Amino acid sequence: MFKPKNYRNSTELTTLNGVPIYMHDMVEAALRGRLNVFLQGDTGSGKTQLARDVAHYFGDKSLFILGRNDMDTRELFQQVNPEFLKALKQGDAAGVKFKDLTDRINYNLITIDELPNCVPAVRAQLFNLFDGFIEIDGKAYPIGDGYSVGIATGNIGQQFTESSNELGRALRDRMHLVIDTDYFRPQPIDTFEILTGDRNPRVNFDAKAEDKTAEIREAHRKLNEAEVSDEKKLIALYLIHGLDTLENGESKTKMKSAWPTALENHEAGSDAALVLPVSPRAAKSIITLSQALDQIVQEKGAETPDPLESMMQAFKFTSAYSGILNEALVRQTYGEDHYKAMDAVINATRTEFSDDRKDKIAAGLELADKGKKNERLLSVFSGRWSFMKSLLERLADDKT
Ligand SMILES: Nc1ncnc2c1ncn2[C@@H]1O[C@H](COP(=O)(O)OP(=O)(O)OP(=O)(O)O)[C@@H](O)[C@H]1O
Ligand SMILES: [Mg+2]
Repeated sequence: MFKPKNYRNSTELTTLNGVPIYMHDMVEAALRGRLNVFLQGDTGSGKTQLARDVAHYFGDKSLFILGRNDMDTRELFQQVNPEFLKALKQGDAAGVKFKDLTDRINYNLITIDELPNCVPAVRAQLFNLFDGFIEIDGKAYPIGDGYSVGIATGNIGQQFTESSNELGRALRDRMHLVIDTDYFRPQPIDTFEILTGDRNPRVNFDAKAEDKTAEIREAHRKLNEAEVSDEKKLIALYLIHGLDTLENGESKTKMKSAWPTALENHEAGSDAALVLPVSPRAAKSIITLSQALDQIVQEKGAETPDPLESMMQAFKFTSAYSGILNEALVRQTYGEDHYKAMDAVINATRTEFSDDRKDKIAAGLELADKGKKNERLLSVFSGRWSFMKSLLERLADDKT
């Protein structure tokens, strides 16, 4: 658990087992899980300050870049390693040289302030850096020796939710976690402290770097080793398959643009019309974030959170801006508040995971484990739960 040097914000993003999760905890959970974070929000809310503070965790293993629209990929290369330009000028024989140079790049955290200012070509390179490589002449060279992650900031407001928007799509594809800081603004006591601390409106650069890279990498390693519970896997299946399936068994994904307008009766007013399924890739991020949040909660001295609650909070913060919400409904019903809309989805999901249903799932799994199927039990898994029927049947078949 790290404390940012300058950034102050005691607003709770959520609580798990009574442990408050603050903005910096959420960002730390992302670092532990190696999930890229995009901090979006209004001007002057401390996004840059938080990104700066997090960069300090990584000491000289972090690269801080200010996005500008007049920066080209050459200048970016130059910032990553000044020797690149020399190598680029040498042309042909440079292939070997690049490997030499990239081998020496040792950045574990890439921070991009004002990412939306970057032109698409630069953005693409930056996203590569987040993923741990740099692309030169179509060839990928790894950096950061196995651990790399990115934090970006920017204020793009509404543009974000427009699916046609090229930047919005790029962000959704490459950022695992989008936090709209406008919904979690600092408390008066925080701003009081901020104003008391110093009246310099510039971001505080001076804090001495305290290198926590090793601790973060160790937490990441532990996370990767920790077993993911079956409950979490089943919850992920629900988010992928359950949220895809309507009462009549039809798939929302297959409906394409007919979703949600073609929905009938009460489904049109339920979460069926509010949310699309998550992708398998997103489900992995959700599990990872949930595991990281559990780790932080435990380090704060509490018991491991309930798997459903932990997964739901991870779902909320990975998916509010991932494009699965029905934007028209978010506007009409939730006053554009994506987190409120996610809370509605989460409430509906809690109802779906009733004690009765959990008992039936447990019974089904127990039978399947013995290679048995009980038709009456299987038949209760219909509509959005038909994935469970399919799963139990296949698990039973595999045993025989
Ligand atoms: N939550 C905060 N904690 C500490 N300092 C803060 C906080 N919010 C703002 N500040 C201070 O206010 C000033 C502006 O903050 P900062 O530049 O980080 O905002 P920003 O969200 O990046 O804004 P912009 O969208 O304009 O880039 C800085 O001096 C910063 O240190
Ligand atoms: Mg800023």
